[in-house]
Amino acid sequence: MRPLIGTNWKMNLTSTEADGWFQAFLPLVDRLDDRDLFVLPPFTAIWIARERLRDTPVGWGAQDVFPEDEGAHTGNISAPMLADLGCRYVMVGHAERRRDHGETPELISTKAAAALRWGMRPIVCLGEHLRSAPDETMRFLVEDLAGCLSAVDPADLPRVVIAYEPHWAMGEGAVAAPPEEVGMIHRALAAWLAERPGGAAVPIIYGGSVDLPAAARMLSEPGVGGLFVGRYALDPVNFARIAGAGAVRQGAIL
Ligand code: PGA
Repeated sequence: MRPLIGTNWKMNLTSTEADGWFQAFLPLVDRLDDRDLFVLPPFTAIWIARERLRDTPVGWGAQDVFPEDEGAHTGNISAPMLADLGCRYVMVGHAERRRDHGETPELISTKAAAALRWGMRPIVCLGEHLRSAPDETMRFLVEDLAGCLSAVDPADLPRVVIAYEPHWAMGEGAVAAPPEEVGMIHRALAAWLAERPGGAAVPIIYGGSVDLPAAARMLSEPGVGGLFVGRYALDPVNFARIAGAGAVRQGAIL
């Protein structure tokens, strides 16, 4: 599987700042052709992503979606609106959405289903709150994942992306989880998915304080299908370096 490496900008970068970010980023990754890259700006800068990325292999998408397609839901954004902006990915169930908006696995699942209905790939985020023993972590993750996929048509499973993001390894002051622990979790999740038709095709990417040293180590761990980068990607040069971690053609970067 080609590594899938993306960034979630969270609530950062105006449209104007996003424009500068893309202009700095794109020349640095234009020869990086052994992996798939994507960027999830805030809703307000998706149109800039479309302007800047439309003739490049880099995909773009959204950080959230409302489960219904239209109607009286003030302030929400629907899947057809995102599909119309050329979004290829829609993140659902990010830890901060769960924390700030009380999102449940069942709600997350209806959001994933909405993205799939409109031809986009949902990136389903899951992660335990506190560091715990691997079997306890797996019990929690599998139950959460089953809930997050409950409204997804099994035939659509191969278009789903899973992002494993342990909450304790995310954000300011945290460091990435140890790659061997991440690899173990990814392989266990992959085994669970492989029991479902099409599940073997689902990439499992890692997020949580991914910086350049962590990126290279994570990508060499069997089972880690890619990276999901937060704060270390707000600098486009840094994200270009992370995006190129372990690439055969290192010369492509800088
Ligand atoms: P972080 O964010 O890299 O800043 O920890 C990761 C995420 O929330 O996806």
